[in-house]
Amino acid sequence: MIKIATALLATTLATSILMADSIVLVKKTDRDVTKLTPESKAWEHVKATTVHLYPQSAITLNDKRANAINRGAKAKEAKVKAIHDDKNIAFLIEWSDGTRSVQRGYKSDEYADGFAVQFPVEYKNPEKLPYIGMGSDDRPVIIHLQKAIEEVYEPNGNGDVSMQQNVLSKNVFGKEAAEYARRVGALAVRDYQRSFVSEGFRSMTEIKDGSEKFYADMEYDANGWRGTLIRPIKDEYLSLKGVFPVAFAIWDGEKLNRDGQKLLSGWIAVKFSDYKGKDELVTVLTAAAKGDVVHGRELIEQNGCTGCHQISGLSGPNYAAPGLDNVGGYSTAAYLRESIVDPNAVVVPGYNRNAHPNTPWYNVVDGIRQSTMPPYPLDEKSLDDMVAYLKTLKSEAK
Ligand code: HEC
Repeated sequence: MIKIATALLATTLATSILMADSIVLVKKTDRDVTKLTPESKAWEHVKATTVHLYPQSAITLNDKRANAINRGAKAKEAKVKAIHDDKNIAFLIEWSDGTRSVQRGYKSDEYADGFAVQFPVEYKNPEKLPYIGMGSDDRPVIIHLQKAIEEVYEPNGNGDVSMQQNVLSKNVFGKEAAEYARRVGALAVRDYQRSFVSEGFRSMTEIKDGSEKFYADMEYDANGWRGTLIRPIKDEYLSLKGVFPVAFAIWDGEKLNRDGQKLLSGWIAVKFSDYKGKDELVTVLTAAAKGDVVHGRELIEQNGCTGCHQISGLSGPNYAAPGLDNVGGYSTAAYLRESIVDPNAVVVPGYNRNAHPNTPWYNVVDGIRQSTMPPYPLDEKSLDDMVAYLKTLKSEAK
């Protein structure tokens, strides 16, 4: 019986390893891509790449209801397209969502659907990319965030409060009233758009000086959301050349998603179609893990990894360390290997101090985060096997 189960496990695991996301090829266009919207016809001529987004199961929120709703959350497939005009690059991301959740005003018990696109500031060494999702110490990421909000009437920084008065109090009628409504409408903030530079959860710094410009938009229809993100290929923070990594995140307001609770892709290689240089990044990001999955699982149990980490089926919820249920979906094999032999290389930021004050994920020594996970300097074969097993830890797309 156990033998059969193991054989079955081995086959299902072997197939899931083959399903690495492919790369996003970016062709050049003569059009100005900053004019593109989610609705633009031009997108019909661009080839789509399927990417997978996995529930971020490393961290737990304080909100019990949100945690319950998201327990056992499934991965999602999204379609990504990209095109450039030498100055700017435009991404389109399409994903299904049965409900349109839009945040109204500043209500704090409602959460909006939204998406984010992020880029590592440095990506020369594909084996040492930032922590996926939020960046990590010394490995910053640029995050562009777009959330669906209802129009908010703000003085818009102009202090123009008079324009926020109810039209009935303005003593205007007919055409004049319509003109008043139009001018008020023009002052509305329709989008929640922010750029951040981040080196870990809670270290997100909004870039407010306008140096990190981007255009984003999201449109909903019966199939779900289509979002566009358009930004310079090169600016003060980023230089996107040849081949570079990108990652996507989506939030589902209906499921009370916010902050770290979201679906997240791994680093995906984006390549300019006329690029002829080295492909090392593509190799690292699309590499299937080599190793004996079944033996890897045995090693994980023998080495006590499950004493700290939750791996559904092997161990229950445990706040002593990040949950690993989807770690194979959003992490590269190189990252997983580094996590085992050198936990301090990337210290997963942002553990929930309220949920588990007695089991910190790291201690701060001389201003530097020191992981509470011991390093495991195992032999190459054991590491390959463990990584191969960890790469299978991910929920399948619905
Ligand atoms: C004493 C508790 C403990 C043990 C035992 C332990 N870990 Fe960890 N692990 C942690 C903590 C805490 C973190 C988060 C801080 C960090 O990034 O090092 C972590 C992080 C990780 C990560 C990164 C997770 C992410 O979301 O990016 C991986 C992968 C990992 N551990 C794998 C393992 C494996 C495999 C073993 C067994 C060989 C193991 N751990 C044993 C505590 C532990």
